[in-house]
Amino acid sequence: MAGQVYLNGVYQPAEAASVSILDRGFMFGDGVYEVIPVYEGRAFRVREHLQRLQRSLDGIEIRNPLSEAEWSEVFDRLIDSNCQATDAVLYLQVNRGVMAKRNHSYDRGMSPTVLVMCWEHDYANQDTNTKGVRAVTLEDTRWSNCYIKSVNLLPNVMLRQQAVDEGAAESLLIRDGNAIEGAASNLFIVKDDLVRTPPKSRYMLGGITRDLVIELCAEHRIIVQEKDISEDRLHDADEIWITSSTQEIVPVTTLNQHKVGKGVPGPRWLQVIELYQDYKRSVMRA
Ligand code: PDD
Repeated sequence: MAGQVYLNGVYQPAEAASVSILDRGFMFGDGVYEVIPVYEGRAFRVREHLQRLQRSLDGIEIRNPLSEAEWSEVFDRLIDSNCQATDAVLYLQVNRGVMAKRNHSYDRGMSPTVLVMCWEHDYANQDTNTKGVRAVTLEDTRWSNCYIKSVNLLPNVMLRQQAVDEGAAESLLIRDGNAIEGAASNLFIVKDDLVRTPPKSRYMLGGITRDLVIELCAEHRIIVQEKDISEDRLHDADEIWITSSTQEIVPVTTLNQHKVGKGVPGPRWLQVIELYQDYKRSVMRA
């Protein structure tokens, strides 16, 4: 990856940046991260992402190494040096720090490892002529603290790969008979014109995109129910969407071997993606 990165207070070329083999992120996946969209050179919903970062850090007892203003300064500098006015992604990671020797338990006074990167990203998924994507249902094999955006993503990696190996774009995860979210996205369905998304819980990551979709729907009098989605209800949906910072809102038009609704992106999706793009434009102009 070309460009500058920020590592522990130093701006440096990506190729030059390195962390110790005794970094707990490297050895235990002991760290958390955020992925923030950047539209035309402006970071989107930064405050919300930093609030979620704080919840993740609190969840694993790492102190936040930077203030909101300091995070924003790092983001601005990296956008300036790497991406300027283009669409991009900011990635930040905070690991617990470097140990003297390998030891599962940790010292609460450790100095965290802080990495921020920024790379160009194509949000072309938003072409409203899209055919949509295929998803498969898989059993949720993750832990019980999925609200923490942990870098320990092994189940998500395996679940996404299984979907890709089956020719699909995403796996929709089933826990105790309910669809929770995707391997790296949140889930919405539409049935008889009612939009539904699973309620936030420790079993899912509360997406910033999910929150914005709910907010935009409320503003435009589209009712969204935050209620469980049973596996049966998922299979019976007229529309399915997945949402994330890097993909925005993507219609799922095939689930396992079957068409979702008519097998094309539905009218509610079209309405909501337009609201989303309008909102983005209004924020970029502000
Ligand atoms: N992942 N659920 C999971 C498990 C995720 O990994 C993500 C995003 C989301 C959507 O959250 P948001 O709308 O805040 O991006 C839900 C990011 C994009 C990633 O890991 O790359």
